[in-house]
Amino acid sequence: MKIGIDKIGFYAPHLYLDMKKLAAARNIDPDKFTIGIGQEKMALPPVTQDSVTLAANAALNMLSEKDKQAIDFVIFGTESGIDNSKSAGVYVHHLLGINPRARTVEVKQACYGATAGIQMAKGHIALNPDSKVLVLASDIARYGLNTGGESTQGAGAVALLVSKDPQIMALEDTSTYMTSDIMDFWRPIYSDKAFVDGKFSNEQYIAFFSQVWANYKEKTGHSIKDFEALCFHLPYTKMGLKALRTIFDEGSEEDKERLFDNYQHSARYNRVVGNIYTGSLYLSLLSLLENKQNLKAGSRIGLFSYGSGAVGEFFTGILQPGYREHLQMEHHTKLFEARQEVSVEEYEQIFEETLPVDGSTIELDIEKDPAAICLAGLENNKRQYINKVN
Ligand code: COA
Repeated sequence: MKIGIDKIGFYAPHLYLDMKKLAAARNIDPDKFTIGIGQEKMALPPVTQDSVTLAANAALNMLSEKDKQAIDFVIFGTESGIDNSKSAGVYVHHLLGINPRARTVEVKQACYGATAGIQMAKGHIALNPDSKVLVLASDIARYGLNTGGESTQGAGAVALLVSKDPQIMALEDTSTYMTSDIMDFWRPIYSDKAFVDGKFSNEQYIAFFSQVWANYKEKTGHSIKDFEALCFHLPYTKMGLKALRTIFDEGSEEDKERLFDNYQHSARYNRVVGNIYTGSLYLSLLSLLENKQNLKAGSRIGLFSYGSGAVGEFFTGILQPGYREHLQMEHHTKLFEARQEVSVEEYEQIFEETLPVDGSTIELDIEKDPAAICLAGLENNKRQYINKVN
């Protein structure tokens, strides 16, 4: 039985900051951000968007009524959840009107959470072939103003529907993974900003990739020539390119050109959104599928997932016939076109505008946010969500 990705939806908040303008304000050469890091724009969430609303907005246009009845498992991958107890997925389950006969959980392991979700979904479908699983990957990447990680912030969510006989990509069975207890990136419970040892995390990302890639080749006998494209977790777009370059010598000039060209397509959305942590790998996959016109059905795509702390995994999928017809390209193009630029001053103000943590009641101005699903306020320590289209 084929199991894999049946549908993919994406959402990023409606505001963005131009990285060249951030560079100018920070007295940094703009080429460092656009070339050295590989980022052009950074998506910026208004206070009316959090990981719940981003995920709900990503899935909103993707699910049919039939899907909502068939989904019996909602898995929410995030490292910027909004509650230490209740799963963010339960809010989304309600906001989307998914049937009550479903399990819902939140999965956390830095940027690896959604990959764990996809593998759990695959196992669930293998046991329950007629069910569908909604995997949500949603995060807000915050390092802080004037920090080393500032240029690698972002916000957004990817929603994936996993089922049998998938319309987009069938997942293959072999995957290789590893865990090692390291402190390259972390966010203590008391902090709304991440701590990172940037250089160490870059080194570990490459080391994990080398290890799981070597293990994969050993297990399968496959090599670089068997791949149409490789997609990477992209905390910033230069990171995946650095990893890809480490294996260029393993193939012919033609392999190198194909993988490099497809890499550029796979990084296009990430370049203008920024880091969305656990959704980044899946945004990269979506970017490849929507921006590259002539990928053939049957092509093998490799996916490298890395979640600091750290867990890494390499797995693969095969593109299905007619997959392009099942993407939501028009919807995503409109989403990107409708985004509004903010100045550096506005960005700083929006970044600092956080919710009260003393239990006070607050009503937020949702009229300024064009998203269908918004956070409308806080009351009795409870977040108040609203779906404007209902
Ligand atoms: N023109 C072109 N490139 C330039 C440049 C310029 N004027 N100035 C610098 N660069 C290049 C550097 O050569 C470097 O390239 P390289 O990595 O290929 O060597 C790159 O830009 C970054 O410069 P660097 O001095 O290393 O930047 P930094 O000290 O500000 O750190 C990060 C960059 C990415 C480490 C930092 O932003 C960070 O910590 N981000 C978060 C890390 C993260 O997301 N980790 C999670 C991994 S999963």
